[in-house]
Amino acid sequence: MKDLIQKLVEVWGPSGYEHHVRALIQAEVQAFVDEMTVDALGNLICRVGSGPKKIMVAAHMDEIGIMVTFREPKTGYLRFANLGGLIQTTLHGSRVRFEDGTVGVVAAPDAFGASRTTAPDLDSFYVDVSDGTDADSITPGSPAAFWRPMESRGSRLISKSMDDRVGCAVAIETMRRLQKQTPHSLYFVFTVQEEVGIRGARPAAFSVEPDLAIALDVCPTGDEIQGERNVVKLGGGAAIKLQDTGLIVPPAVRDWMVDRAEADKIPYQFELIKAGTTDAAGIQIARAGVPSGCISIPCRYVHTTSEMVDLGDVEACVGLLTGLLSHDVTI
Ligand code: CO
Ligand code: ZN
Repeated sequence: MKDLIQKLVEVWGPSGYEHHVRALIQAEVQAFVDEMTVDALGNLICRVGSGPKKIMVAAHMDEIGIMVTFREPKTGYLRFANLGGLIQTTLHGSRVRFEDGTVGVVAAPDAFGASRTTAPDLDSFYVDVSDGTDADSITPGSPAAFWRPMESRGSRLISKSMDDRVGCAVAIETMRRLQKQTPHSLYFVFTVQEEVGIRGARPAAFSVEPDLAIALDVCPTGDEIQGERNVVKLGGGAAIKLQDTGLIVPPAVRDWMVDRAEADKIPYQFELIKAGTTDAAGIQIARAGVPSGCISIPCRYVHTTSEMVDLGDVEACVGLLTGLLSHDVTI
């Protein structure tokens, strides 16, 4: 599991440029699917089983990043727009990587002065890709993702893009454990462009037309020092979402998940968040509506290059999802 997560988090795939992630996932799941298609936007749709109920499981492939918008004529410094929700206080000194492997440093002006205590506007930041010559290849229109290799400490994994490659890992491992055995028609959808407004999951849900859906994504925790008023704890088990800014989980979906977790003795906790949402928010309003829930992987420091998850929680999410998809559903 750890090796799979490492492969997934270290692959390059900012929103709109998920092709390398998709190729990796296609290779990983090939043996466990009945049918695999890629839709017009780039969502990877994997069908497993052919039972009467259609259940969609969504995890997003994209990660937050930037796109170069302008090259300063004298210095060659690159101005950029955000792809997804950047946290400006974390940007100065971070590294980004372009598709050709070029690494750049994100910088704020006057870092020991005005920018020392207050992050400036995004417009003031720039990326430095200088290599000592005038010949760098990065032009306006080039996308980049943040870059850090994964670290592990005991049961904890720390990396960029755990959001949402760890969700992809949960889906892949669940497919592996199911070995195509399910009473349902499962549609594992690895979606594009979640970070820029759930743009992949909506059309995917329209084409899959599921009866029921589950999104797999990270959720912020409240157990850091002076954390928010958030009940989720890292290491506290699979987080069963009850509510976020885009989704109120129907009680029947909540009970379906809770009853399974209780029956299979899987550690779980509830998730209630006041900021952010997931693919489930888009899926629930597809066509005539889809009862939708979310199994969340607790994650500290979301949207930084040091997103931290716990392998015990990841295992709980895989166990819960595998159990749900192996049994009959009455919703
Ligand atoms: Co995110
Ligand atoms: Zn996410």
